[in-house]
Amino acid sequence: MYQVIRNTKYDFIGQSYSTVYPNLHKYPATMLPQIGIEILKELNVKSGRLLDPYCGSGSSFACGLECSLTEMHGFDINPLAVLISKVKFTKVSVNKLIDIKKELRNNIYEFLKDEKNIKTLQRPQITNIDFWFSKAVIDNLIVIKHFIEQIEDKNIRRFFLIPFSETVRECSYTRNNEFKLFRMKSEDILNFNPDVIGVYLKKLEDTIFLYSNFYFPKLDDTVNVDVKYSTFKPQNEYFDIVLTSPPYGDSRTTVAYGQFSTLSNEWLGINYARKIDGMLMGGVKPKQNIQNGIIADYIAEINKVDNKRALEVSAFYNDLGNSINQVAKSVKKGGKSIYIVGNRIVKNVQLPTDQFIAEKFEQNGFKHIITYERALSNKSMPSKNSPTNEVGKTVNTMLWEYIVICET
Ligand SMILES: C[S@@+](CC[C@H](N)C(=O)[O-])C[C@H]1O[C@@H](n2cnc3c(N)ncnc32)[C@H](O)[C@@H]1O
Repeated sequence: MYQVIRNTKYDFIGQSYSTVYPNLHKYPATMLPQIGIEILKELNVKSGRLLDPYCGSGSSFACGLECSLTEMHGFDINPLAVLISKVKFTKVSVNKLIDIKKELRNNIYEFLKDEKNIKTLQRPQITNIDFWFSKAVIDNLIVIKHFIEQIEDKNIRRFFLIPFSETVRECSYTRNNEFKLFRMKSEDILNFNPDVIGVYLKKLEDTIFLYSNFYFPKLDDTVNVDVKYSTFKPQNEYFDIVLTSPPYGDSRTTVAYGQFSTLSNEWLGINYARKIDGMLMGGVKPKQNIQNGIIADYIAEINKVDNKRALEVSAFYNDLGNSINQVAKSVKKGGKSIYIVGNRIVKNVQLPTDQFIAEKFEQNGFKHIITYERALSNKSMPSKNSPTNEVGKTVNTMLWEYIVICET
């Protein structure tokens, strides 16, 4: 058993993400930057190369910036996550953003004066488009996208896609307060008539405000955050510090990153958007359950009641384990890894992911330093699910989070 210490310092009760770094775009299961900042300070990390192999919307880079790190590398296979991370940590001129916003606004209203104009634009390839969007919303989104595509500067174009993606979600028939894709009730649809252009321009203004106040001032010319749309690619003894919050289970039965991002990704031109959850960690089932190590007994317990679930869980830990093998190789001697995870419950069995991570790093020549337990109160993720799949029967999936620290 790798030592776990309850540490209330990391609870950050009552604090939210926006207390230090407001997010520019909603994303599921974001890591509270306060945790990463505090742990980097505690470990006295002030320089070196940082890696986040599952970077999502990029909280770990915010932590790195706060602790004076200038070179950071991230990977994610959800295109929306990569877009958000890139925009937050790419330096663009705020004056240019404001000028192009004005120009875009004028162009859009000018274009809309003649209804015939819309017919000249191509409809995007969105699955069941009429199920998720009204005709008026589709037309307006097409016009906005058309003018965003005209922006020459690639970084600014990307910036303008952030509020576009938020507008796609907000103006669709999805229930906005949920991460999974659910359609509104029919009676709500009847009264749903959003002012798409107005929503977009307001979101654009808000995004520029947040970027210019919270991100831009920290992005001096020495900062280099490189985010790749890919699974992690190992580089021998290259990184000094790994800071990450990996998924805590496969995407189908835990947080559906792909599903959350589907409509945005499709509007952004990703034609395999609906396949993303199957591509994420734990997406492909193995033939056999994991037989070795700490996790094997827990999976065997699940297997007694549900073989299919046991294989799904095995798939996830196979992927997480293989990824840790690659990550471990890529850390320099003296480097540290910090993984922030939850131990989820499947079929009433609580899976010790924190222990699994410590064990995998130790198998790769690292030494487990400490694991802190923190009360989970801030993460935007479902705290309850139905692990027995009996309707109405729910248990808390996670009340604690674990900060697993290892050193090589
Ligand atoms: C818990 S989230 C990370 C959240 C991030 N810390 C933040 O604050 O936004 C986990 C991320 O892992 C990504 N992911 C899942 N499987 C992956 C894989 N095999 N390779 C790279 N990224 C993956 C998901 O798309 C998701 O963005």
